[in-house]
Amino acid sequence: MNKPLHIVILAAGEGKRMHSALPKVLQSLGGRPLLSHLMDTTRELEPHAVHVVYGSDPERVRNAMADYPEINWVMQEDRLGTGHAVIQALPGIPDDARVLILYGDHPLVPASVLRQLIDQTSSAMTLLTIDLEQPRGYGRILRDRIGRVTGIVEEKDASANERNITEVNTGIMLVSAGWLNKWLDRVNNDNVQGEYYLTDIVGLAHDDEVSIEAVIAPDLADLIGANDRVQLAALERRYQHKAVNALMRNGASVADPQRIDLRGIVETGKDVFIDINCIFEGRNKIADGCRIGPGCLLKDCSIGPGTEIKAYSVLEGVICGAGCVIGPFARLRPETALADNVRVGNFVEIKKSSLGAGTKASHLTYLGDATVGSAVNIGAGTITCNYDGANKYRTVIGDGAFIGSDSQLVAPVSIGKNATVGAGSTITQDVADGQLGISRAPQKNVSGWQRPEKNGGGK
Ligand code: UD1
Ligand code: CA
Repeated sequence: MNKPLHIVILAAGEGKRMHSALPKVLQSLGGRPLLSHLMDTTRELEPHAVHVVYGSDPERVRNAMADYPEINWVMQEDRLGTGHAVIQALPGIPDDARVLILYGDHPLVPASVLRQLIDQTSSAMTLLTIDLEQPRGYGRILRDRIGRVTGIVEEKDASANERNITEVNTGIMLVSAGWLNKWLDRVNNDNVQGEYYLTDIVGLAHDDEVSIEAVIAPDLADLIGANDRVQLAALERRYQHKAVNALMRNGASVADPQRIDLRGIVETGKDVFIDINCIFEGRNKIADGCRIGPGCLLKDCSIGPGTEIKAYSVLEGVICGAGCVIGPFARLRPETALADNVRVGNFVEIKKSSLGAGTKASHLTYLGDATVGSAVNIGAGTITCNYDGANKYRTVIGDGAFIGSDSQLVAPVSIGKNATVGAGSTITQDVADGQLGISRAPQKNVSGWQRPEKNGGGK
């Protein structure tokens, strides 16, 4: 029973039914290519080798899958059908191997189901089937009067009676390599689509009186395929359902598990609360006791304990300490680093900047390329003018500084420790520690001022 396990993933299809410039196996599921999900599953099975048959846009596919160097890429120049696709992989598979065939467009098949298939069957051919109320698009499983599998008929080749069969082929098959070789030799393309169907080997096995085992999968939700965008959306919901359940089992509270999207990896500490309609992309780490308000988008962020992110904030590439309060409506761009207890309020944009502990930028501010100390108060409407149209420059603000409202800090410029900038200033020169920097036209008051009147205005 210790035959080497080889896995073949069929992924050369263009995905015509997707109507997309992207090869089907790179279509996104949970923010990652379909094929990457399947590859993660194969890793759990520890096979001898994984052969991926691919064809359209080869360079793009290989680049997108760079995290999986174990893949043995097999080129299928002409896509002449699933049988023809498997033939391309045969030269890399020894005759004594067991071959597990997976379809690239069935990305959610659980490793446990495959493991069972591998461990529990010894037949030369085992199929995994599902019973579908709506079998449209799938190959139907043919059985004789006593229930033995006799073949698979593709929908396009099926008679009206055969189309009523609800047991369908998932495409998942475990076959001994020696037989696979022989049967594929005999497959022809004499069918409606003019393709070499892998599924025809089932009828050939029956002709050769090889017993065929068909295992009906109990939970079909993970086994559905994605030929078009309607099916892909159904798979996405299924993936999200599982991902959010895993998140909640790890201790996060989610206001509504139906209204959250996890497109990547989210690690949460204890007592994290996530309100509705949040989206997480890339890799996010959210520490104990954080609260995330409704409608937030977080991408590649690390959020310190007890931080609150209020409604409709967008954070990308942010590292934030403990006890911060961010938003509502904050926009924090890559390379933003907030120390502990920082307050970033509404309509504040920050990029490539660090803010020290206890610093506040509560309203309507742009901080770009700035190093801001601790306990600094940034008044409403402060702007770091970091760009002269050609180059970017830094602004440095010392601990305890106070920047009055509606000030422009024209970089490169530095504001000293405990320095003050008067409201409405345009600061173009450094302000030393403890100084007041102010650039404001002196105020004039005109007595008895007559307001203009409307032209031609009678009474
Ligand atoms: C196939 C099965 C059908 C099964 C269904 C499950 C065949 C003939 N039919 O139909 O019985 O119910 O999957 O979803 O196998 N591919 C290649 N090279 C090719 C053609 C296809 O690599 O020349 C790949 C595709 O990228 C895809 C997989 O094989 O990942 C299946 O091809 P697809 O065209 O989607 O087959 P279905 O019509 O869905
Ligand atoms: Ca398919």
